[in-house]
Amino acid sequence: MKSFIQGIPKCELHLHIEGSLEPELMFEIADRNEISLPFPNVEAVRAAYQFSNLQDFLDIYYAGANVLLHEQDFYDLTWEYLTRVYRQNVRHVEIFFDPQTHTERGVAFETVISGIREALRDAREQLHMTYKIIPNFLRHLSAESAMQTFEQALPFGKWITAFGLDSSEVGHPPSKFKSVFDRVRAEGFLTVAHAGEEGPPAYVWEALNVLKASRIDHGVLSMEDAELVAYLKKHKIALTVCPLSNVKLRVFDKMESHNLKQLLHAGLRATINSDDPAYFGGYMNENFLAVQEALDLEKEQIVTLVKNSFEASFLSDADTNCYLAELEAYVAGMDQSTTAPVNIMD
Ligand code: ADE
Ligand code: ZN
Repeated sequence: MKSFIQGIPKCELHLHIEGSLEPELMFEIADRNEISLPFPNVEAVRAAYQFSNLQDFLDIYYAGANVLLHEQDFYDLTWEYLTRVYRQNVRHVEIFFDPQTHTERGVAFETVISGIREALRDAREQLHMTYKIIPNFLRHLSAESAMQTFEQALPFGKWITAFGLDSSEVGHPPSKFKSVFDRVRAEGFLTVAHAGEEGPPAYVWEALNVLKASRIDHGVLSMEDAELVAYLKKHKIALTVCPLSNVKLRVFDKMESHNLKQLLHAGLRATINSDDPAYFGGYMNENFLAVQEALDLEKEQIVTLVKNSFEASFLSDADTNCYLAELEAYVAGMDQSTTAPVNIMD
């Protein structure tokens, strides 16, 4: 099972690039940017990664992102993530970033997206990986700030597929951002939103009905509302579930209590993702392995989870079908194709 999971071609739909900043790289970048960190060494940073809820984590995650100043920093961050997950057979990634975490510190939107995109382009050339880019608005900030961020993003619109919503959930319902997301869709972008991570099913309904989200990020608390579960099933709305994150942030007290199996049994389009791998103890393979072991998932369920991801991706139907064929060949034990479909977004 372990080697089956390691080798299966995968797709990641929920990854905050700032959450892939490993302490080693944090120190390297802090050194060259002459920024002093509130930790003496890498071990002390890792030791600080004990969280009792989402906010606990966000405070340390935003502090870590302060070392990122230059295009090269965003390039290095993204390239390190991509080369890691390439070794885990991740073939397609849809990357989130938080523009306001950087623009609020005086770093230009262009600096951030250019560094991230350059690394993604290199990964496509050199590693045959494909990608989509999804900036997220910080929901603890105002709707006006989100709108300003959208204006800053528009000149780079051809590089962007969708916009999302993240950060502190409770107290910041999706409806707070209705006008921004109306504008986002009017300009031709897709939408996604974090909802039902710590917040109630009502927030998932709002993400769907008000923001018109194509996918729900996390969404695990949707199970509390039978009508919502029926809706998600009927409309094949994917949930980008992040098992290690959910345990680290105490949404579930241990992996054995995670509701992934219930989501699958309810017929929901659940997918597996890493969220913030440098903070939560693992990338894609570690997430799959942890959940498989704790919930005793069958091989078939692993395949379903991976298939769900490719099907819920924002790839074209033709590109999705290429990956599904590659997946099918892998499962059938045939040689894997090494050719990737071209990414049409840029
Ligand atoms: N930003 C980074 N990770 C997040 C998460 N799990 N929930 C909300 N916002 C986030
Ligand atoms: Zn997230």
